[in-house]
Amino acid sequence: MLSIKSIQRKMQKSLELRGVRGTITFLGRLPWLWLDNRLKPSRIKILATDCDFDAKYQVDTGGIIPISELTVRVDSWIHGHAYQGSPGSDLSVHFDAIGIDYPNTVFVDLGSGKGKALMLAASRPFKKIIGVEFSAEFHGIALKNIDQFVSTNVNSSEVQCRCDDALQFEYPQGPLLLYLYNPFDQVVMNTVVERLTRSYRADPRSMIVFYMTALYEDLWDHLDFLECVTRSPEFNVYITPEHRGRLDSTGYDLRLISGATNSR
Ligand SMILES: C[S@@+](CC[C@H](N)C(=O)[O-])C[C@H]1O[C@@H](n2cnc3c(N)ncnc32)[C@H](O)[C@@H]1O
Repeated sequence: MLSIKSIQRKMQKSLELRGVRGTITFLGRLPWLWLDNRLKPSRIKILATDCDFDAKYQVDTGGIIPISELTVRVDSWIHGHAYQGSPGSDLSVHFDAIGIDYPNTVFVDLGSGKGKALMLAASRPFKKIIGVEFSAEFHGIALKNIDQFVSTNVNSSEVQCRCDDALQFEYPQGPLLLYLYNPFDQVVMNTVVERLTRSYRADPRSMIVFYMTALYEDLWDHLDFLECVTRSPEFNVYITPEHRGRLDSTGYDLRLISGATNSR
């Protein structure tokens, strides 16, 4: 059930992003958008996969929850996309295919929600796994989920959940895998790109950007220090020359990444 507060926040967000005319048009289309979204086979499939994952690990990662229904206090909430856990349960298969130097690589999920991607990553021996989520509600659920997951999966990597704005995140030194599952719009994404660029220029190193549902791929495509090695409707993968060097020296074949349709 929608509260008055969440309706106010939805209106505030729409007015800021679409303006008055855009909001009126949007409200007129709302019943059709709602119906279309409810009946999408992909949505029904995702909800079923959520249930399977949650039942298997006794955690709670399900649902599609708009930010306007939460109590996020940072200004960037307006640019945040709705919560939805990462699809599927086989992300780590894709990670294996990118030739990650696991013991030296830190995995960072900006907009980590209830922690599903963190749990999927935890099955691989990353040096460390960090999730950044600005909703206190999701952060609390992620902490519980990770506790539960780690208690039943003894070989899990160390996972750290931070309740913070992704805009404040300082990238750690050393090899990095930055994971993004459609967390925010181009305004915040632009700043994330700028900050990652600065971090790379200060310390050129092996970096992988794993961008799921890459709505704002243009912001990443033009960067001179990143090569797009996979482009598909599901995800894009970008690597720095240092990671390319590692792949070339180990004879790694990136065509192993499933889901890839083309790259350049
Ligand atoms: C599509 S969900 C992805 C959840 C998680 N990464 C996963 O794969 O299961 C996007 C998440 O990003 C969070 N988010 C959006 N903007 C953010 C920001 N500026 N800082 C931190 N979290 C943010 C939302 O609250 C939401 O939980």
